[in-house]
Amino acid sequence: MAENFDAVDLIIGKRDGRELSTAEIDWLVDAFTRGFVADEQMSAFAMAVLLNGMSRSEIRDLTLAMIASGERMDFSSLSKRTVDKHSTGGVGDKITLPLVPLVAVFGLAVPQLSGRGLGHTGGTLDKLESIPGWRADVSPAEMMTQLEGVGAVICAAGASLAPADKKLYALRDTTGTVEAIPLIASSIMSKKIAEGTGALVLDVKFGQGAFMKDLDRARELAKTMVDLGRDAGVVTSALLTDMNVPLGLTVGNALEVRESVEVLAGGGPADVIELTVTLAEEMLRAAGVTDADPAAALADGRAMDVWRRMIEAQGGDASAALPTARHSHVIVAEEDGVLVDQHALPIGIAAWRLGAGRARQGDAVSAGAGIELHAKPGDRVVKGAPLLTLHADDEARIPRALDSLDGAWTIGDEAPATRPLVAEIIR
Ligand code: URA
Repeated sequence: MAENFDAVDLIIGKRDGRELSTAEIDWLVDAFTRGFVADEQMSAFAMAVLLNGMSRSEIRDLTLAMIASGERMDFSSLSKRTVDKHSTGGVGDKITLPLVPLVAVFGLAVPQLSGRGLGHTGGTLDKLESIPGWRADVSPAEMMTQLEGVGAVICAAGASLAPADKKLYALRDTTGTVEAIPLIASSIMSKKIAEGTGALVLDVKFGQGAFMKDLDRARELAKTMVDLGRDAGVVTSALLTDMNVPLGLTVGNALEVRESVEVLAGGGPADVIELTVTLAEEMLRAAGVTDADPAAALADGRAMDVWRRMIEAQGGDASAALPTARHSHVIVAEEDGVLVDQHALPIGIAAWRLGAGRARQGDAVSAGAGIELHAKPGDRVVKGAPLLTLHADDEARIPRALDSLDGAWTIGDEAPATRPLVAEIIR
């Protein structure tokens, strides 16, 4: 029979900095999942972890216990190797959309289980749901068929995948304990390992538009996750990427789909292309594919062909017009000069206030709401020319969005120093 512990002893142990044993962590996660450990006890435990950290073996035990709380997927019957990516979330981060079909061009299967957005970073499913007819719910059997045929699926994760994480994440969200590295790492990696991918590339964002504001903490998170993946037999690497400036020129669901389709058609903003191609190269390397040229497959329409098949396999009309919002508001440059700064966080918050994101789980999002950026840092701007366009279905949302944009950009005389988008790759 499994050993029994007392939740209060384990909370006190972590509060006082003690390293918990495998049996203690297994018991805690299992008892919490079954409702035997109360939400307030698990919240206190999460706070103790945030304040005191966890050892590598504790983080591994927590991850394994969360995986064991639910079902594991198994892609071993596919004729293709599997590879997936995960982004820790950013403003204008639509990279999954062009990336998944791009990697599938090279004969790999990409099972991308995604979520809906909460807060100022958008969710991949919310973006794709702006495509008429597209559905996020795919049964395990449909997923296998689509992976074998098209090679690419982006869909909702079923409730049976790491249910302990779902329960714990909801508590962390309301108790100020989201930012603990052991909790973020085990949360992300429990879902990715349970999903059963053979290889995984992580896009860990740093900067003011990201969870991790500075590069050192992003590096620590990335290393922790790469270790967890490796310990579980998944080939894992991580890119550390800059999230001080929004990615691309759009923030918002249908707006980001439109920009992704531009990239798949061989155009689109340089930063979106660069990150899509760099992540594709890393995913192909992790899955053991050599001699592939993802930049060419993006430019010559092969990735677009897979995109259309992937969208249509899930009921979407890849040729349909995308929804647009009923109201728009243009902000013009107040002087001539060079755009020096453009801050991701206020722009993400403004898009959220326009209706692109949700305040509570289960709220609806507006497909057409969001922000178009007409210039990026380093571009020359002319007084009176458009700098941003805000889009909303509900006109009353525009003033609140304008409030959050106060100080969101600077116009000056000199172009800013260029910063690399991909700061490091951790393998
Ligand atoms: N994403 C997750 O899935 N979990 C976290 O803890 C943070 C981001």
